[in-house]
Amino acid sequence: MQTATKLVPLTERAAWKALQTHFQQIHETHLRQLFDGDPGRGERYTAEAVGIFLDYSKNRINDETLKLLIALAEESGLREKIEAMFRGDKINITENRAVLHVALRAPKTESIVVDGEDVIPAVHEVLDKMSGFANRVRSGEWKGHTGKKIRNVVNIGIGGSDLGPVMAYEALKHYSQRDLVFRFVSNVDGSDFAEAVQDLKADETLFLVASKTFTTLETMTNAHSAREWSLAGLGGDEKAVAKHFVAISTNAKEVSKFGIDTENMFGFWDWVGGRYSMDSAIGLSTMLAIGPENFRAVLAGFHAMDVHFRTTPFEKNLPVLLGLLTVWYTDFFNAQTVAILPYEQYLKRFPAYLQQLTMESNGKHVTLDGTHVTAETGPIYWGEPGTNGQHSFYQLIHQGTRLIPCDFIGFYKTLNPLGRHHDMLMANVFAQAEALAFGKTAEQVKAEGTAEALVPHRVFEGNRPSNTILTEKLTPEVLGKLVALYEHNVFTQGAIWNIDSFDQWGVELGKVLATRILGELESSSDPDGSHDTSTNHLIKKYRQNK
Ligand code: F6P
Repeated sequence: MQTATKLVPLTERAAWKALQTHFQQIHETHLRQLFDGDPGRGERYTAEAVGIFLDYSKNRINDETLKLLIALAEESGLREKIEAMFRGDKINITENRAVLHVALRAPKTESIVVDGEDVIPAVHEVLDKMSGFANRVRSGEWKGHTGKKIRNVVNIGIGGSDLGPVMAYEALKHYSQRDLVFRFVSNVDGSDFAEAVQDLKADETLFLVASKTFTTLETMTNAHSAREWSLAGLGGDEKAVAKHFVAISTNAKEVSKFGIDTENMFGFWDWVGGRYSMDSAIGLSTMLAIGPENFRAVLAGFHAMDVHFRTTPFEKNLPVLLGLLTVWYTDFFNAQTVAILPYEQYLKRFPAYLQQLTMESNGKHVTLDGTHVTAETGPIYWGEPGTNGQHSFYQLIHQGTRLIPCDFIGFYKTLNPLGRHHDMLMANVFAQAEALAFGKTAEQVKAEGTAEALVPHRVFEGNRPSNTILTEKLTPEVLGKLVALYEHNVFTQGAIWNIDSFDQWGVELGKVLATRILGELESSSDPDGSHDTSTNHLIKKYRQNK
């Protein structure tokens, strides 16, 4: 195992200690005071790059906070860590892997060497192969086993092999080829597969089996069911598999074992983490939906944000600013969550996508050198598109007892102009951020003639922080920029915490136990009762009632 450069524990770094002292001075300061004391604040605490505008003025910070957070980033080696990632160093030390999702969107002219080999030509080779395939399917040239055009595409995958593809499909539906139907199957719950195919015809259906490892229980179970369903609908001829199944994986051996010709396999590499893979061959469903040209625009968007992240000074660097603010709230204000609030219906799966990206990456309790962290790590990410959330959980954000930093994401233009809808939508973005920050005092409530007893109920304390992210409209390129913004935001947080943001050992134990328990659920003889009493009892109850 490669070892990490030893860093001073987070809570002993000079900038951290200075932040602690500073926190004592600032934490009770209200955003109202910060704005009153600085007439230029709303314009000054902003940054804009590659067409993405960030207003971070409604955060509980001042110039000193920013200075100290940036000093913390420097002391934590963020600059060197960014370079190490882009260079292809094996920064995922527990798996001894490079972390090179940035190579997936690098132009042909770049060169990134891993284990003595430039990876860029292979990236472009796969992209070209994907493009050729996508064009054949989209044009109807690719025929199913009985000679029919493909009308339905079913992506089977889970985690990074599902959430990115679903999110991107939904986000870019506006640009999709509407005579193709897309479905996504992830859950091992048979209902997911059954519902996905219930109205589809096997002779018009193409399955994409997306799995980095090609061993994931859920995906392989669904893929086998798909194979049976497909063959049953196609007269049982095994040759049909070649026309109705393609694989997206790093594991050619398992792909062949499943019965998919590796000619019909789109590869990627161990240096692409599952949750960072939507721009690899895992994005084949996206490319089929929106076409190769639009897919390349997504990649160009990712790349533009990569260049910004790598080259921009921290004080103007969008992902760095977002990452540092998250560390500020998580570690000093003890905030436990971050709400992602896109005011764009097409981004309805964006919060779910970000949950894996952020929480599988930074849900870690030890540092790179194996010692227990000395401060809280990865916050819980959650959210829903606006304005729906306003009529559901925003109450708690406005008047509850927890501090919930929010990211509002809005667009200057809508893809579907319809009367006053878009102005109304955006009015809500600005109103929510304003209400959260400034609230409404008891005096203001009283001045409205509110009955004395109701005053406390109608007070909004305010001082609830938020970022507002604005950009032109949801294009393929903008989607790439937004995803890369959060990828590098996560990277920044992980660098400060000095954790491995690229492994995911925490999902292993449950997988192993499930395999063991499955045997016990299916066995004809009674299990030996070697679990704890609760698990033993649950297994018994299930066996009696199934
Ligand atoms: O949940 C663990 C995990 O390994 C994720 O990181 C990954 O995205 C998912 O499973 C799916 O893995 P695969 O693509 O290998 O099927």
